[in-house]
Amino acid sequence: MAQTHAVEPTRRDFLYVATGSFAAVGAAYAVWPLIDQMNPDASVLALASIEVDISNIPEGQENTFKWRGKPVFIRHRTEAEIAAAESVDVATLPDPQADVDRLRPGPSGEIDKKWLVVIGVCTHLGCVPLSYRGEFDGYFCPCHGSVYDTSGRIRKGPAPTNLEVPPYEFVSDSRIQIG
Ligand code: FES
Repeated sequence: MAQTHAVEPTRRDFLYVATGSFAAVGAAYAVWPLIDQMNPDASVLALASIEVDISNIPEGQENTFKWRGKPVFIRHRTEAEIAAAESVDVATLPDPQADVDRLRPGPSGEIDKKWLVVIGVCTHLGCVPLSYRGEFDGYFCPCHGSVYDTSGRIRKGPAPTNLEVPPYEFVSDSRIQIG
């Protein structure tokens, strides 16, 4: 006749169980700060998108806004700057992109050529370029000499790509939402 018998838990079993429990609790404590860090706090969420007033940027000038920790250049371009950006043979550019493809429609639905919005971070190694400098009167990065035009496109120097255009849209004639 088969016999069954329950094995009494030994002191060793208890130690295994206890150790496992502590390990689980320890792991939970170790993981929580990581999870907690991944939850953006209110201030981060607030900066996920910003709305800026562009009515006080005269033609021929630019303002810099901070978005997600990066500078964003909003430039009110002159007719000459627009003409210079449009007259380039796109095929000759290191990162070919037409000026119009870097712009967004205004409130009327038409592309608004007056306003250039780019992230002010050089695409080479991340320096902040200087505005209205360089051979093309666009941007010049003094770190290693990258030169961008009035559309923020790379024209000379080591930067591999154009200045990035952030997601943005016109909320009205005088306000832009970035992000
Ligand atoms: Fe701008 Fe190197 S970081 S040229």
